[in-house]
Amino acid sequence: MSETSETNAIVIFGASGDLTRRKLMPSLYDLYRKGRLPENWRIVGVSRTDFSDNAFREQMKAGVKEFARSMYDSKSWAEFAANVCYCRGDLTEFEQLRGVDKMLCEWEDDRPGNRLYYLSIAPNLYEQAVANLGAADMVHQDHGWRRVVIEKPFGSDLASARALNQAVHKVLHESQIYRIDHYLGKETVQNLLVFRFANSLYEPVWNRNYIDHVQITAAETVDVGHRAEFYDSVGVVRDMMQNHVLQLLTFVAFEPPSSFDAEALRNEKAKVLSAIRPIDERNAAGCTVRGQYRTYRDTPGVASGSTTPTFAAIRFYIDNWRWQGVPFYMRSGKALAAKSTEINILFKRPPHVMFPMPPGSALSPNRLSICIQPDEGIHLSFQAKVPDTAAEMRTVDMSFQYEESFGAMAIPEAYERLLLDVIKGDPSLFTRSDAIELSWELIDPILAAWQTNHAPPLSFYESGTWGPVEADELIAHEGYGWVQGCGGE
Ligand code: BG6
Repeated sequence: MSETSETNAIVIFGASGDLTRRKLMPSLYDLYRKGRLPENWRIVGVSRTDFSDNAFREQMKAGVKEFARSMYDSKSWAEFAANVCYCRGDLTEFEQLRGVDKMLCEWEDDRPGNRLYYLSIAPNLYEQAVANLGAADMVHQDHGWRRVVIEKPFGSDLASARALNQAVHKVLHESQIYRIDHYLGKETVQNLLVFRFANSLYEPVWNRNYIDHVQITAAETVDVGHRAEFYDSVGVVRDMMQNHVLQLLTFVAFEPPSSFDAEALRNEKAKVLSAIRPIDERNAAGCTVRGQYRTYRDTPGVASGSTTPTFAAIRFYIDNWRWQGVPFYMRSGKALAAKSTEINILFKRPPHVMFPMPPGSALSPNRLSICIQPDEGIHLSFQAKVPDTAAEMRTVDMSFQYEESFGAMAIPEAYERLLLDVIKGDPSLFTRSDAIELSWELIDPILAAWQTNHAPPLSFYESGTWGPVEADELIAHEGYGWVQGCGGE
């Protein structure tokens, strides 16, 4: 049988949800427009809602028009939509799942059938969903590959993540599991690999000898909005730190992988996670800050008197040769002053300054700002002599902007890359079971400490600010403060 007779089904469970309309379908449409979907493809939306194929397509069309990066046009939409269909079904009901399988088998018509199952469903259903896929004999790989994408959150603590890993491993081989973190689909995050390992300039200074500290900020202006009920049970540490922000940290800190191979990369990520010094009751108050924006408790869905943090700042140390003694400051929050995700590397100040300086002043250190979003780019700040002065200095910037170098539309939606990688079978940008557990091993003790009387106080902050003042105190280290090296919105 020729290779092109294979079929490729993308089955989205929970297809009536927001993620499908806002991210998955627009990304698949963009992949289609770029000619990147494989031969004989079909997208099957599955959820409990009653939709006809056409009603589902209409809803998806609205999402594509609003969120796809490529220009919508009715001709290509019609071609695309002809391969999109809907099947009513509840993944937790075995018999209904058999109905989905039957429909897929009919379409596959004895051709080798590759299937990507995307679980865009409530996290508490993952275990049962995977068990049912197994029981319905839908994950065997005798005639084509079967891969399962599992959205975050993967567990809500170490014990639940472990239990979920064990449950999914009963049904799936690790190579079939794609634990997604959409931050790794971001072009700017992947570029960290190229920036660090395809240039010889940075590696020699990428260590404790030259770097004073690292700051990672993932700030959002939005508040918890209509997700309040979910968010109140989760909070910023589970929602953003355990996954997105820790992933950014690993990309800054890991050792050069020996090859561009998924396992080489994932091994280095696991190593760096296991080298992070845990924070627990004894040092939580000195290393962490938790905050809540003032109007949070008035949001419908939030428990009265809720202590769920909507802001957190954490200082980590990495116990290895490269990073010994270098603090990694991470902060994330809702209802902050700007939407900005950025990594700032602050270099050490020159050991001796021969230029005359006003008393009490210090040279600004060199700073490398890696702007993940929205103003994607990289900036290096350094000192320059102000013209026509004896030796007055000013901080200036060397800048790379994606838009300038690659064009306004160069950056695809993160899900595009990730969906394509699953189809190709490349797990590099997905989290392996050990890394998930390692990240919870770091997060659990912090959350536990916050339940004790050793916890830092829950500090309140005004919406539209940079969070509680305690976050500034956390970083007030050798005269440094949080920097906003990127534009932000
Ligand atoms: C999600 C979180 O994973 O990431 C949200 O659950 C958050 O609370 C979102 O708003 C941020 O993603 P991005 O890509 O807008 O930074």
